[in-house]
Amino acid sequence: MTFQDQIKQGIPSELPSKKTYEKAINHAPKRIDILSNEEKELAIRNALRYFDKKHHTVLAKEFAEELKEYGRIYMYRFRPDYQFYARPINEYPGNSVQAKAIMHMIQNNLDEAVAQHPHELITYGGNGAVFQNWAQYLLTMKYLSEMNNEQTLIMYSGHPMGLFPSNTNAPRVVVTNGMMIPNYSKQNDWEKYNAMGVTQYGQMTAGSYMYIGPQGIVHGTTITVLNAGRKIAKNGEPLAGKLFLTSGLGGMSGAQPKAGNIAGCITICAEVNPKITEIRLSQGWIDEKISDLNELAARVKIAKENKEVVSIAFLGNIVEVWEKFAEENVYVDLGSDQTSLHNPWAGGYYPAGISFEESNVMMVENPALFKEKVQESLRRQVLAINKHTAKGTYFFDYGNAFLLEASRAGADVMAKNGIDFKYPSYVQDIMGPMCFDYGFGPFRWVCTSANPSDLEKTDAIACEVLEAIRKNSPTEIQQQMTDNIQWIKGAQENKLVVGSQARILYADAEGRMKIAEAFNNAIKNGEISQPVVLGRDHHDVSGTDSPYRETSNIYDGSKFTADMAIQNVIGDSFRGATWVSIHNGGGVGWGEVINGGFGMVLDGSLEAEKRLKSMLFWDVNNGIARRNWARNEGAVFAIKRAMEVEPNLKVTLPNLVDDQILKDLF
Ligand SMILES: NC(=O)c1ccc[n+]([C@@H]2O[C@H](COP(=O)([O-])OP(=O)(O)OC[C@H]3O[C@@H](n4cnc5c(N)ncnc54)[C@H](O)[C@@H]3O)[C@@H](O)[C@H]2O)c1
Repeated sequence: MTFQDQIKQGIPSELPSKKTYEKAINHAPKRIDILSNEEKELAIRNALRYFDKKHHTVLAKEFAEELKEYGRIYMYRFRPDYQFYARPINEYPGNSVQAKAIMHMIQNNLDEAVAQHPHELITYGGNGAVFQNWAQYLLTMKYLSEMNNEQTLIMYSGHPMGLFPSNTNAPRVVVTNGMMIPNYSKQNDWEKYNAMGVTQYGQMTAGSYMYIGPQGIVHGTTITVLNAGRKIAKNGEPLAGKLFLTSGLGGMSGAQPKAGNIAGCITICAEVNPKITEIRLSQGWIDEKISDLNELAARVKIAKENKEVVSIAFLGNIVEVWEKFAEENVYVDLGSDQTSLHNPWAGGYYPAGISFEESNVMMVENPALFKEKVQESLRRQVLAINKHTAKGTYFFDYGNAFLLEASRAGADVMAKNGIDFKYPSYVQDIMGPMCFDYGFGPFRWVCTSANPSDLEKTDAIACEVLEAIRKNSPTEIQQQMTDNIQWIKGAQENKLVVGSQARILYADAEGRMKIAEAFNNAIKNGEISQPVVLGRDHHDVSGTDSPYRETSNIYDGSKFTADMAIQNVIGDSFRGATWVSIHNGGGVGWGEVINGGFGMVLDGSLEAEKRLKSMLFWDVNNGIARRNWARNEGAVFAIKRAMEVEPNLKVTLPNLVDDQILKDLF
């Protein structure tokens, strides 16, 4: 059967043969056994809803086995045999170009070269799911292949509720992931309701079909490392010869070594998982691999002496590296951590002193002991980091809940006031005040022709647009503009594509709108051969309310509210987004963040031009308006500028209060 016919078929009426569990694939860790027997029955009943009654006896037994063996029902048997990758848009069956573009994006999120646990439909972050099971995937693709531009597909945490009549200007797909009644949003609630098959953790770009491989994060990480370097520079000197120590070579964290190379420092990145380390080596995302601590210490000393620009993976636990470097007096200039501490008890963080394999068993068989080990390891890690920072290391939290979980483990990370952490998050110090408050965020696009030459053309167009904008940019954003132009100029040479022909580029509202308009014109006149999908990471100016990350530099008390993210996605949906998504969880953890995003298909039409102008302006300025109301200086500046450009924009500005007035009031 052709690929097209398989897509159109949806869930096959006859059972496909059983699949063998492919050991070479990076599989999701076994999840904890959390359901009571009654709830397990419910999970099986729920799973069987997708299938004809005649298959229930066979499948009930099989799904019960999966639940027992893996803690979830993935329905492995139904995973199609065709290869998953972002095929050229014309290869997808269907009646709607917009729907085909979405299929292109979904396929990319499940590509074995892109996804972290492709057979469990997990794209990144250990639990960032596109779907909960293969039946949902098959049914969704079938709906997309059938739908027209007067219908909207409704997605509930991976489950396609169905196609509903709408209109041509409505989104083609509306996605919600992990939305819970607030009181049911604890870590174990995810375990329980995900195992029952009624919710999923969509992360940010996994469940919203907007993941573009580690490139998506390389740019943001480069900006972070570059600016962290500017922070520690004594006389504006570059990062050459300075050491950046961190951990994780996974979905996002894998971008760190590449970003370190682009920023021009020595990067050491510890990773416990040998398979992942090999993948990153083979992709050229790290230069060298070392498994021995003594060898590592010796190697880094040479790299420092020679001021090498090099990235080295340490195959082992990050805790040991911090400790070893403290012992050997290896000075660390910049330090961070990117283990997946948003998911601490289920494989996000591997404790020191126990092997990778032992940990994988312990987290399932003895979760209480595993939790103790994780917390003990975090205390050890912080103890070692504190020794380094006492000597001058600039350590920052990378939005992975490191400081949050370390504090919960009783590690010494609290500031003197007992409320704040003693180290900043990268958003508080860097991304918030330097990027988000001015509207700069992770704009991205994907060429659905899957043709690298289209991507090359878009890079050139984007560069031209930014250079023109820079000429009239105010001083406040000149550095940003320069960094982003440099990034797009080097993008081809840095070979950043893994998966779809995609590009990330930090840009503000003006940049995003002008680049998008130029793309739409290039599609119209045939310079670009097929539609381009616009989108962004949820980790952006307006998309995400997350008190320990994206909105950690909001200081008016509103960082624990989530109005911005919800407003954003509602606003995007009626201003022309092709699809919108809103998620609970992502990055810092279930219950700790609400994040939303969009996708927009540009097809060269006048309608697309209208949509992009209306939606992109809102999508960025909503967040700037909120940041302005929180009295963030850069945002007040940026929203005033936006109001000058767009007379229909009228935003409430804050009045600043003199400190003297508040003195002695209470
Ligand atoms: N890169 C960014 O810009 C960014 C931004 C915000 C948040 N984050 C956060 O960073 C974290 C990592 O994201 P990811 O997609 O790479 O997750 P991931 O799960 O794919 O990768 C994390 C890696 O850390 C490794 N690891 C775990 N414990 C370790 C230890 N003690 N020593 C060495 N290696 C260890 C794991 O084996 C895994 O490969 C997440 O919590 C994410 O939310 C990243």
